[in-house]
Amino acid sequence: MSDNGSQFWTKEIDTQEIAWLHLDNKTGSVNTLSSKALKEFEQLLHELEQDTPKGVVILSDKPGGFIAGADVSEFTQLENEDEAIEYILFAQSLFDRLETLDCPTVALIHGFCMGGGTELALACRYRIAKDDSNTRIALPEIKLGIHPGYGGSVRSTKLLGPLAAMDMMLTGRALNARQAIKTGLVDHIVPERHMKNAAQQIVLEKPDTSRSKLSHKLLSHRLIRPIIAKQLRKRVMRKAPAAHYPAPYALIDLWEKYANSEYMMKNEAKSVAKLIGSTTAQNLIRVFFLQTAMKEKGKLSEFKARHVHVIGAGIMGGDIAAWCAYKGLTVTLQDQTPERIAPAIKRAARLFSKKLKPSRLARAAMDRLIPDTEGNGIEKADIIIEAIYEDLEAKQQLFKSLENRVRPDTLLCTNTSSIPLEEISSVLDKPERLTGLHFFNPVDRMQLIEIVHSGNTDDKYINDTSSFAVQIGKLPLKVKSSPGFLVNRVLMPYLLEAAFMVQEGIPATAIDHAALDFGIPMGPIELADKVGLDICLSVAEILCKHLGGNVPDILNDRVTSGNLGVKTERGFYEYHKGKVVKPSNDKPTIAMHLIQDRLILRLLNEAVACLREGVVESEEMLDAGIIFGTGFAPFTGGPLQYLHTLKLDIQEKRFNEFNEKYGGRFQMDKGWENLLC
Ligand code: NAI
Repeated sequence: MSDNGSQFWTKEIDTQEIAWLHLDNKTGSVNTLSSKALKEFEQLLHELEQDTPKGVVILSDKPGGFIAGADVSEFTQLENEDEAIEYILFAQSLFDRLETLDCPTVALIHGFCMGGGTELALACRYRIAKDDSNTRIALPEIKLGIHPGYGGSVRSTKLLGPLAAMDMMLTGRALNARQAIKTGLVDHIVPERHMKNAAQQIVLEKPDTSRSKLSHKLLSHRLIRPIIAKQLRKRVMRKAPAAHYPAPYALIDLWEKYANSEYMMKNEAKSVAKLIGSTTAQNLIRVFFLQTAMKEKGKLSEFKARHVHVIGAGIMGGDIAAWCAYKGLTVTLQDQTPERIAPAIKRAARLFSKKLKPSRLARAAMDRLIPDTEGNGIEKADIIIEAIYEDLEAKQQLFKSLENRVRPDTLLCTNTSSIPLEEISSVLDKPERLTGLHFFNPVDRMQLIEIVHSGNTDDKYINDTSSFAVQIGKLPLKVKSSPGFLVNRVLMPYLLEAAFMVQEGIPATAIDHAALDFGIPMGPIELADKVGLDICLSVAEILCKHLGGNVPDILNDRVTSGNLGVKTERGFYEYHKGKVVKPSNDKPTIAMHLIQDRLILRLLNEAVACLREGVVESEEMLDAGIIFGTGFAPFTGGPLQYLHTLKLDIQEKRFNEFNEKYGGRFQMDKGWENLLC
């Protein structure tokens, strides 16, 4: 094997004269296609062109995966569009040279194969993937506000046909090994032990690759393309309006104009170069790094759980237990009677059968989830998660009884959403042991977990709990024990403002429409109905008690009359079988931008207060928490990133106007002055 002091690639020529190109970034835990890695690859290509072997196999020496994509940090350093074009064309030219090498080329894929990694694989003549559940192949560039730029949009549409390729690129979703072979993205899936043999065999046999299907050609015909493009735009519009997310539309335009012509490649580079400098892309890249930073918090401790004990099998406890079992942990689930645990087990079975295929994996997850009315898991568990009623005395009593039964190294966590941690932990001999592990509903879909700490909590436990959150695939956010923590506190004034507007006679549909137009994925009225108006009311009352303010009468009235939202089929809207039925003839009574200003100013103001009070440790973590905890418009980069685009004097004027008109709830927080000029 020759490495010539290289940092990324090594070339090995075997006895059959096949060149094996091993990628192994010596300075990082994953392989990315950084400029340096590509420069080395260029040198290798040169050697292969000069002295062409019988075949080339590209593989990764990293146990976790093949290639995680381009080096995204380099996207933020490109000064202008010209620099971006040059950057993209360089990679494109290398992949073109790989594609035209005068010998069979094979990508041998295991684990993650993302973005630029998939584009490199597409430039090979053959692709073989490892047949296991960790294989994930994707073109997720759209999530960063761009689309594939290293020839991926051209090669994927040619190989998979426009429908499957566009679906992959427009959703950014990853295909597992089985899906990859079904769509034709890979030629073979094989168990690990056969991978190298399979690669050798394919090089020696050179099976035919002329697999362009007639249907692909037909769908790419210039008369058919506009019809498909229109459908694709319509589908994208529902989730990503063009004003906020230009990349999917740019990709559809590119294909509609140039499919199957040599111009598509050149214009692909131009299109990505234009998108990459856009505010949307730069903000989405920021969000990508925020997510990475949250995951890094999980590395501050070595803690790994094998056995979780959850107490309280209600909505939250039941779903937390199911999620942990789904993620491979042994879980004991405790409640007062078997009847209370049964519904949670039923929901878990549904989750497992939806997410785990083949069915033996779902059965194995069911075996890991153990009903435990006696609390036999308490002594064995590595972590205990309490999710009983929101009642201080009940929680205190429970933790007091636990403290003498658990192992000294067991983590003690509460899922309380409103009780100060220090009040619960005051009954413990070691109050520093208790952390809040605040999950969001629905547990299987919400990525964020707030890691709540009080002045008493030991850093060790905060780090251990964060590590646990990452272990179960969630994003930990460290927050100070204070009313509503971060997410509920910032969200609630926004929801209450929406309820105040309904009370004033502004149609609920107009309010939701204004929020969607701003870029929030679900309007506040529909969200409140979904969360449950009783839950909203109880959180609102706690927050108003501690932070001041009023709950709009309309919210009290709805709850008193039993109209609690989706769960009672009536809240602010009516529901039929869980689906919202919105009135269609409601005319807005005020301008949309005024609705948006009222909603967003209340949210921003609370975010500023949280930052000033140190509820979270930084602006970045606040933005991350609100994006991953509420879905706040990711293209803005988060509430504070958005706030930095505003002018202080204009906002002051707005607050004063609204304060006069709507009473004292538009009091501008003093933290604004530190953030804006
Ligand atoms: P829930 O009322 O659905 O379930 C509570 C369960 O705890 C019941 O099944 C009850 O039988 C059981 N329980 C009560 N005392 C117990 C004891 N001593 N030992 C064993 N089991 C006991 O409540 P939910 O909604 O699941 O909330 C649980 C906790 O999670 C609360 O602290 C709540 O504030 C918090 N939370 C709730 C969220 C939500 O959306 N519902 C979101 C985030 C946190």
